[in-house]
Amino acid sequence: MCGIVGYIGKTQKGADIVLDGLAALEYRGYDSAGLAFLDKSNAIVVSKQVGRVQALRTALTQTKTALSTSTTIGQTRWATHGAPSITNAHPHYNADRTITVVHNGIIENHQELREHLEDKGYKFVSDTDTEVIPHLIDYYTHECKTFGQAVEKSLGKLRGAYAVLVMTSKQPDTLYAARLSSPLVIGIKKDAIFIASDATALIEHTKEVVYLNDYELATLKQDGTYTVKDYKRSLYINRDTETLDYDAQESNLGNFPHYMLKEMHEAPDTIRMATSGRIRLQNNTVKLGGLESVADQLKYIDRVVIVACGTSYYAGLVGEYLIEELAGIPVEVQLASEFKYRNEPFSRGTAIVAISQSGETADTIAALKKVENYGVLRLGVVNAVGSTIARITDAGVYCHAGPEQAVASTKAFIAQVTVLTLIALHLSQGKSPLFKPILNELAALPAKTEAILAQAEAIKKLADKYKDYNDFLFIGRTYGYPCAHEGALKLKEVSYIHAEAYAAGEMKHGPLAMIDESFPTLAVATDSPVLEKTLSNMQEIKARKGKIIAIASEGNTSVKKLASDVLYIPESPEQTQPILIALVEQLFAYYVALANGHDVDRPRNLAKSVTVE
Ligand code: G6P
Repeated sequence: MCGIVGYIGKTQKGADIVLDGLAALEYRGYDSAGLAFLDKSNAIVVSKQVGRVQALRTALTQTKTALSTSTTIGQTRWATHGAPSITNAHPHYNADRTITVVHNGIIENHQELREHLEDKGYKFVSDTDTEVIPHLIDYYTHECKTFGQAVEKSLGKLRGAYAVLVMTSKQPDTLYAARLSSPLVIGIKKDAIFIASDATALIEHTKEVVYLNDYELATLKQDGTYTVKDYKRSLYINRDTETLDYDAQESNLGNFPHYMLKEMHEAPDTIRMATSGRIRLQNNTVKLGGLESVADQLKYIDRVVIVACGTSYYAGLVGEYLIEELAGIPVEVQLASEFKYRNEPFSRGTAIVAISQSGETADTIAALKKVENYGVLRLGVVNAVGSTIARITDAGVYCHAGPEQAVASTKAFIAQVTVLTLIALHLSQGKSPLFKPILNELAALPAKTEAILAQAEAIKKLADKYKDYNDFLFIGRTYGYPCAHEGALKLKEVSYIHAEAYAAGEMKHGPLAMIDESFPTLAVATDSPVLEKTLSNMQEIKARKGKIIAIASEGNTSVKKLASDVLYIPESPEQTQPILIALVEQLFAYYVALANGHDVDRPRNLAKSVTVE
């Protein structure tokens, strides 16, 4: 969802740097792109296009001035207020184009501000909430002594969420950047400063970064110096830089045609990275360094509430089964968007666990903020190092899956479930009889995911066979139930096929009515104590002429008697099967989408990082 990039420095490559940065943020999802730069006479030049960053690049190569620009800001817009159009695309500017702004987030009081400014004679050209910002700054430049004060005063009037970059022809050697509930990271290099919504856009240039916190305004100078001010408390902040722990190559496609395929193929390494240094087979222990600082509090936890969105929510559902079974602690999983508006009682013994790949999902952040003053422990299971959720939680365990770029999450789910397994083992304090077998299985899983990836051709064939169905049902029981949900979500996201998930035991309470030969079911029917029950549900579907694709455990012979088609996963305890089942489902969804000619990495209407509510 919207990505912003800015550059200020001595080189004349601002436009190229920002275009490359915007291209790196394409995975977030967007529908138009634009940038603004200062030309040789320090006048602001704006260029915008509907569609891809490439269209913007093509348009700009025809503008010779753009080839030698220094200070530049750009944005990819995911439409919220106003349709995707050139007028609504960012950057927005004031009437005489001396102030220009790119923005992520939503200005909730934009209507009120707009009316106020219109009363003062300001004219608006777009339908966006963002356009109030350059006009507001313009308005305050008449009241304030410096341009920086006008920016600060304007920020104080905005409600909602924003990451903004402000550029002005009045101060060509300065860029302003501020955030409230929307991420911004500054990249630092000698004689140059980069700023972006996430580090993917700047890692090519530098690994030294500073993350901005809420209510912080950074003033970035062309000579590579900068200041950060907390404008709520009127305090200058001295923050150490952090060094990013991954390389630009990790964000590249390599030889894969799509990020989604690349990221599924990273499953074996994802599990290795998530368990590396954390599982000690020799002495049967799990070491989670990220939880050590809260070890004492963890001893008194009597309830866990997991909050998350999308795929992370379904990883949370697997976590619920794992933590309850292994550690014996009651767990509830809530959609972050619901959690934040609920009025439920909390005791101090509750731990809130936020799961998020990006660490920037607005609803999940809001859920954590809701309980800020409740005195409960707030933990994170986050992939993006240094992200907002990683920073606002008391402690947590990183997924270490590396950057995930396809909108549909694949390797992050695998990493999240792996980490939740580790947390469940850790909380069990070694007391569960399953502790040792599962610990050993975690070490064996990478090879098992490799075996699944080796079946890609067979999964592709099946996808081709089923690609034209309009509806799918996904069913499963116990650990297979969250897998049914995640499988259905994956199919919906990338193939746009209607897919619903049900607990297999619920079939007779409604979904069975939909079943006929045109409505196939994907049944998670792997070996577990409830397999026989699932087989009965499959019988009922078969009796109504429903086609069944089953996911079964290798060596099982009963499932194939009922299913139209079977995909096998290597044998694994039911507690670790979700990792293997999910990979099969991800490959199936990928190949169905591919067969239907969809843009698998950037499905229509969706964004990777959902930074607005
Ligand atoms: C979006 C993404 C999903 C992701 C969800 C939650 O919908 O497309 O892949 O699962 O957001 O994101 P998070 O970053 O919090 O895991």
